[in-house]
Amino acid sequence: MFDVNKVRTDFPMIQNNDVAYLDNAATTFKPQCVIDAVTNYYTHETSNVHRGDYDLSYQVSEDYEKGRETVARFINADTREIVFTSGASMSLNLVAYGYGRKFLKEGDVILSTEAEHASNILPWFKVCEETGAKIEYIPLSSEGEMSVEDFKKAMHDRVKVVAMAHVSNVLGYIQPIEEVTKIAHEYGAIVVCDGAQSVPHVPTDVKKWGVDFLGFSGHKMCGPTGIGVLYGRFDLLQAMDPFMLGGGSNARFDICGNILLKDAPYKFEAGTPAIEAVLGLSAAIEYLEKIGMENVYKYEHELRVYAIDKLRELDNLIIYNPNASTGIITFNVKNVFAQDAASFLNTKGMAVRSGNHCAKILIELIEASETIRCSLYFYNTKDEVDRFVEACKEITVENCVGIFF
Ligand code: ALA
Repeated sequence: MFDVNKVRTDFPMIQNNDVAYLDNAATTFKPQCVIDAVTNYYTHETSNVHRGDYDLSYQVSEDYEKGRETVARFINADTREIVFTSGASMSLNLVAYGYGRKFLKEGDVILSTEAEHASNILPWFKVCEETGAKIEYIPLSSEGEMSVEDFKKAMHDRVKVVAMAHVSNVLGYIQPIEEVTKIAHEYGAIVVCDGAQSVPHVPTDVKKWGVDFLGFSGHKMCGPTGIGVLYGRFDLLQAMDPFMLGGGSNARFDICGNILLKDAPYKFEAGTPAIEAVLGLSAAIEYLEKIGMENVYKYEHELRVYAIDKLRELDNLIIYNPNASTGIITFNVKNVFAQDAASFLNTKGMAVRSGNHCAKILIELIEASETIRCSLYFYNTKDEVDRFVEACKEITVENCVGIFF
């Protein structure tokens, strides 16, 4: 049985602060077990992985690879399909550079959406510049929702890559990924999915979803910063190029410049990895598994509905995504600049993000260049939502004068 009050005791940041932390789409708090896993590495296990013929290195290499198994289990993948990266941005860049640049050519199309975070669109802009491929956009509803019908209409034979977020970091809709991949595959296209805002919040099954690539970050799911994952279908990982070369990624090289790379995932992990972060991510996943991702999603959804019902009663707000199902609520206060409103909420002990949230081409769709984003996670409470709603009531131009810092 999920008990939010019990869960909250696991998080030192919640115990040590009064802030209502409502910026979980940016990053999340870490439970003690994650902090312990990181500290344990530095206190008891420090050594490099895959490079030492001694017990310490052997042990930490085993733990590191167990971390890969944990990630694979969590998303229903094979361990050889899990590449450790620095975060979702690196994962998505790796696909664009390693796959897109190698396999796309003039006339090819990358199908994406106007709601993408910079990390899943800028690398594709670059690929277009270098290969002559071009980007087309799948129409979205004014709330950022994609319909299967609209996706079908946007698909055609020249589409080689569909690059889209499963959940937008601004609008929070869960897009119909299973239908998308099925249709894309019928056309011979691959699907590159940005899972940064979905893997931490909904049960993930890459086999069921049918995605060819999936990128996500550890720090948005209770893990450390500096660690992320690229899931890739093994045959695609084998076919594509790494964008970084170095120690650990090659089997052999010679004076003539011949390089024999290791098989995936190791060919993508040149250099000493973020060992403590992998161990921390593994602890975070085990923690989430204990809670159960169904429970995470269910609780967050209930809390969101609770918040929306209350926020809808306020006539000073414009809510851009009232019907989304994840914990992202994006809004503005009439006549108040978003950053002023966020700064006002800060004075009331509330942490939210304001601005364009790195999704700069979404502006036209929602007709707002800046918004305020409240993003919930499973450790937020109805009490925090109540405080937030009360504070929102008080946001006026007059109350925000001189508040921006
Ligand atoms: N991508 C993160 C966000 O949406 C940082 O806030």
